[in-house]
Formats: sequence, C-alpha cells, structure tokens
Amino acid sequence: MILIDGKKAAAELRGELKLEVSELKEKFNKVPGLTVILIGDLTPSQIYVRNKEKSANEVGLKSEVIKYPDSVDEKTVLEKIAELNRDSSVSGILVQLPLPKHIDKQKVIEAIVPGKDVDGFHPMNVGNLSSGYESSVPCTPLGCYLLIKKIEPNLSGKKAVVIGRSNLNGKPMTQLLLKENCTVTITHSKTKDLKGECLKGDIIVAAVGIPELVKADWIKKDAIVIDVGINKTEKGIVGDVAFEEVSKVAKALTPVPGGVGPMTIACLLKNTIECFKRSQK
Ligand code: GUN
Repeated sequence: MILIDGKKAAAELRGELKLEVSELKEKFNKVPGLTVILIGDLTPSQIYVRNKEKSANEVGLKSEVIKYPDSVDEKTVLEKIAELNRDSSVSGILVQLPLPKHIDKQKVIEAIVPGKDVDGFHPMNVGNLSSGYESSVPCTPLGCYLLIKKIEPNLSGKKAVVIGRSNLNGKPMTQLLLKENCTVTITHSKTKDLKGECLKGDIIVAAVGIPELVKADWIKKDAIVIDVGINKTEKGIVGDVAFEEVSKVAKALTPVPGGVGPMTIACLLKNTIECFKRSQK
C-alpha cells in the first residue's frame, strides 16, 4: 500500500512555488500578495490562519492577516473587502470561514472580485470551473486532485466515487475529476447503498464528515482512497475512512492528519500565484 505523504507533497509544491515567486519577482519587480480576514477567536480558524501566513512567508509571498472581533458588523467587512479589491498589491483575498451568524457568508464571498477569490467560492469561479473555463479552484479538492494525479497520472475512464456534495469539497472535486475524463458518482448522506456505490470506485474521495465511515469491505482492491475528513473523536482526530482496515485493501491512501490537510494550504499559495499571474496578463 502506498501511504500518500501529504506533508512531503506539500513541501515539494511549496518548493516549486517558491521558485516561481522568485521568477515573478524578477519579471514584474513585485511579489503576489495574500490577505486573510479572520473574524472572531475560534481556535481552529486561528490555527489555520497562522499556518497559512507561515506558509505564505515561506514561499516569499507578501502576506497580511486582518483580524476583527466577533462583534464586527457586516458593513465594516464588506468595506474592507472593497478596499482590498482596489489594492493592486493584493493578489488574493480569503475570508476565513465559518463566520459569525450575523454576517451573511454568501454576501461576503460575492463581495470579493472573482480574480482575487483564492478560495474559488465566488459563483463566477464556481460557474467557470463547471464550464471547464479558467478559474480559481477550491484549495482542498485541488490538493486532493494533485495527490491523485501523483499516484495515477492518467485518470481517463476511471470510476471515481465522491462521498459528500458540499460546495467546499464534493462538488468542485467532481468537476476536477470530470475534467480528467473520470466517470464520477456523487454520493451523500441520502444515497442508498453507499457501500455498493463505493465498491465500484477506482478512486474514492471521502468528504462527508462522518468518522471512519468508509470500511475495508467498501473498497475495491487497489482503489486510490483520499480522506478529506477531520473528525474530533474520543480517540483523537480521525478521518472519514477507517484507516487501519482500509490500508489493507487500498492501493494508496491518505492518512489523517498528514494527508490532504498540508496540501490545502499549499494550494492556497498556488491559487494566490495564479491570481497574480492572471492579473498581470
Ligand atoms: N475554513 C475551513 N476551510 C476553509 C477554506 O478552505 N477556506 C476558507 N475561507 N475558510 C475555511
């Protein structure tokens, strides 16, 4: 079984991005800039944002974090986004989710100009991705896609099963696999015979948020299994895949932690650089 080392893959990607940033600096005499807006004091969000900042600095991006208290009003946030939209030193804007209840998430997402939407959440980017046009692609599915391609460069005709239909993961993952000519089945919590569907998959992407849902007898021999889940349980953080037993059947499997997670952040940096490059065209 190939244990897919997301930490190593992410470090390699950051190495490539660092080189690219230095080339861009040479060519344009400036570096891509990422601005993250963090609202409130949720611990996981703070940790993510700290890691994003650290990684951005490592590859040589200009990075800035703007922090607001939980009580900040929506108008203040929207005005800040408008200001960042106009700022030519800002290539990418990310508003860390989740947001406090009094702030309309969709309004915030749509306030970011699509060209600076490094999350790929803006309807324009969602539409462009599903139409097969150039777009920002959400970081987590992009990271999964790159890991899958490392194991299997030619995905044409493969059967892929995506578990979960979220806008963040399942739906964009499906679009990326379709672009690679996979036959994709999207499954979710209401799917009948989820096990039967999974058994058909050459590739399984589990992004449903149910601890250790995917068992060994759900997996076709030699399938590639990507675990997007991060579930807090009594025994610590586990994924959506029962790692021990599935590792005996799968051809390749991502661990949790150390699989998809590190790639998500590296892909955010990649998206920031892509936004910068498109803005220079
Ligand atoms: N919170 C958890 N994951 C994400 C993400 O990919 N983007 C944003 N903006 N917030 C998140």
